[in-house]
Amino acid sequence: MKTFLHILPFGLLFPIAAAAEKVELRTPATSFVIELAKGAEPMFVYYGPSLTATDAANLGVPTDANWSHLSLYPAYGATHMQDEPCLAMRHADGNLSTQMLIDRWERRSVSDTAPNGEPRQGEELTVYLSDPLYPVHVELHYLAYADVDMMEYWTVIRHDERRNVTLTQYANPVLPIHRDNVYCTHFTGSWAAEAQLSEHALEPGTLLIQDKDGTRNSGMRRNEMLFALDGPARENEGHVIATALLYSGNYRILVDTDNTDYHYYMAGPSPDNAEYHLRRGETFTTPRSAVTYSTHGTNGASQNFHRWARRYQLRHGNAERMILLNSWEGVYFNINQEGMAQMMRDIKSMGGELFVMDDGWFGTKYPRLTDNCALGDWEVDTTKLPEGIDGLLRDAREAGVKFGIWIEPEMTNTVSELYEKHPEWVIKAPGREPVTGRGGTQLVLDLANPAVQDYVFSIVDRLLSQWPDIAYIKWDANAPMMNHGSQYLSADDQSHLNIAYHRGLIDVCQRIRAKYPDVIIQDCASGGSRVNYGLLPFFDEFWVSDNTDALQRIYMQWGTSYFYPAIAMASHISAVPNHAVFRTTSLKFRCDVAMSGRLGMEIQPKNMSDEEKDLCRQAINDYKLVRKTVQHGDLYRLNTPYDADRQAALMYVSAQKDEAVFFWYKLETMKNHHFPIVRMAGLKPDAMYTVTELNRIDKSPLSFEGQTFSGAYLMNHGLLLPADHDVEWNRRNDWASRVLRLQAR
Ligand code: DGJ
Repeated sequence: MKTFLHILPFGLLFPIAAAAEKVELRTPATSFVIELAKGAEPMFVYYGPSLTATDAANLGVPTDANWSHLSLYPAYGATHMQDEPCLAMRHADGNLSTQMLIDRWERRSVSDTAPNGEPRQGEELTVYLSDPLYPVHVELHYLAYADVDMMEYWTVIRHDERRNVTLTQYANPVLPIHRDNVYCTHFTGSWAAEAQLSEHALEPGTLLIQDKDGTRNSGMRRNEMLFALDGPARENEGHVIATALLYSGNYRILVDTDNTDYHYYMAGPSPDNAEYHLRRGETFTTPRSAVTYSTHGTNGASQNFHRWARRYQLRHGNAERMILLNSWEGVYFNINQEGMAQMMRDIKSMGGELFVMDDGWFGTKYPRLTDNCALGDWEVDTTKLPEGIDGLLRDAREAGVKFGIWIEPEMTNTVSELYEKHPEWVIKAPGREPVTGRGGTQLVLDLANPAVQDYVFSIVDRLLSQWPDIAYIKWDANAPMMNHGSQYLSADDQSHLNIAYHRGLIDVCQRIRAKYPDVIIQDCASGGSRVNYGLLPFFDEFWVSDNTDALQRIYMQWGTSYFYPAIAMASHISAVPNHAVFRTTSLKFRCDVAMSGRLGMEIQPKNMSDEEKDLCRQAINDYKLVRKTVQHGDLYRLNTPYDADRQAALMYVSAQKDEAVFFWYKLETMKNHHFPIVRMAGLKPDAMYTVTELNRIDKSPLSFEGQTFSGAYLMNHGLLLPADHDVEWNRRNDWASRVLRLQAR
């Protein structure tokens, strides 16, 4: 039995109850240690590379750390007036102070089903806390995976006060990060320019990253963050903590750096205009945070996230994805039966496996000719498609491809039969005309309302039960919440809207997956506005961006790759001039960029020349050779596009390191510019790899075509790549790229 004295700011000493126990949770390469004592707050001890038993036994709460406050779950109003609290509430009697102290804790082995439906194993620690003055109870959960370096943590809040308790802050526990030379990386952007990387030193003050879109939460700011602990992030070296909030709703992430020795990271749903009236006995479960630690730089952290995602957090993460043609940029709303059939035949002729009919196929009273009507009226427009979905499925069968279809089930337009019938289903402020979005008429349906949840489920249910051959759904969401108001929630509970909407959405997704586990579903929202791990357990992939320009895609896919695996990144070859930025890149360049993700096409094949089709056919064929490596291999980012050297390179290496695929892109052409050689990574030094160029367009092979090199040479030196393509004069342009396949002999 031991009593610990913890020093608080302003010289206060307070005793922590006796019988403190250190609890260590382990993943294959990491340890997380906290100190627990009945009647005390849970205290942070350590998060980092695996500890030896002796180290673990000798470590304690770092009390030498300059006034650091290492409670994992500071609650507002008693001992934590100066710190950012995880939890703040107004008790039924109006008291604003809360203190959360440990009652008990337990650890158990976990052998259950992960959110994506796959079996998983690990260990879970639950710490039970309560307020000494009020019957308020919080469970802190920490889950360490047995086979991947990932830990998840979340909280469950409940109370037995006589009347409602109002939660005003409800973040997940704090993750303290020692103040060494910490650089933080996060991702911002906008429509058609998603996932731009931003890295800076963590300075004193509070870094606040939040999103208030309402329906989608990743178009402008992503809820993932990476901390390089020893200076600016390096790809293959250095210590890195990477973390994500597994949530699709509004969020708030804080990194607070005060005068103490730590940075304090905390993440949770945004409490802005979202106080939550918790009923007696009701539980409030926060979305999970996921965190990993890498001693192999940012690549190591990305690989940990990718592995965990493919196994446990992405639907069908262990399968391979089909190569598809999506109709949007090819025909936009100009859908018609023969046009669809022609696209099916064309993608098949180039080696594709799936055709997806995008927006514009529905609406009878209000045909969807443009984006201002008919969302909610999911009946085929028979003037465009006289034989309906039956006819499309028949055409797909005849063409020899699978068929997929676009829907936007959470939305409606003021011009729609659905809105005429159910104006009470839309989100709008009481007493006000609704503010509308896309097309001047779009509105968000109120998923807080169980009737709306049933309706959204029924859209998918009807499509898949009536036409079980539909293999793929593109689920879009093109409007933010532009009004605050649920016509379902009571006047008192209007502030529940965002939480209730996303609970409703998850509920619908769970119902869909329970009934239709196999269908492939793409998560799309005005491009990449819904790239989050809250939804991916139900979706197979996401649309990275509405911007398909190959050059800008290199940056967006680069940023996205920090947390998301290539298998989930829909990446399509499109027409030039590009429809978003009007740049004309070469088709070879477009193919090579798209091949580094989940390859598809977003183009009207009818407008392509035979030569262009041949090149795409070759790209698709070649992609099939390396599909498994791209979609399931380990990513190594080699040369960032953000550097001044104007080249970018990455590679994927199979788990056995017997197959790899290397991508190189020239970002700008300047005469007599010298490109540094890119060193490869992730290979076996003593294995011999034969190099084959894929998507070759040059008249003569590269000097090393078909030759064999040791992994050591490729990683210590690398291959010298010509900066231009050796093609006829009239075919020259300023774009150059290389895709190299490496096969161990
Ligand atoms: C936005 C998506 O990002 C596009 O790919 C396309 O599906 C359109 N919506 C259709 O309206």
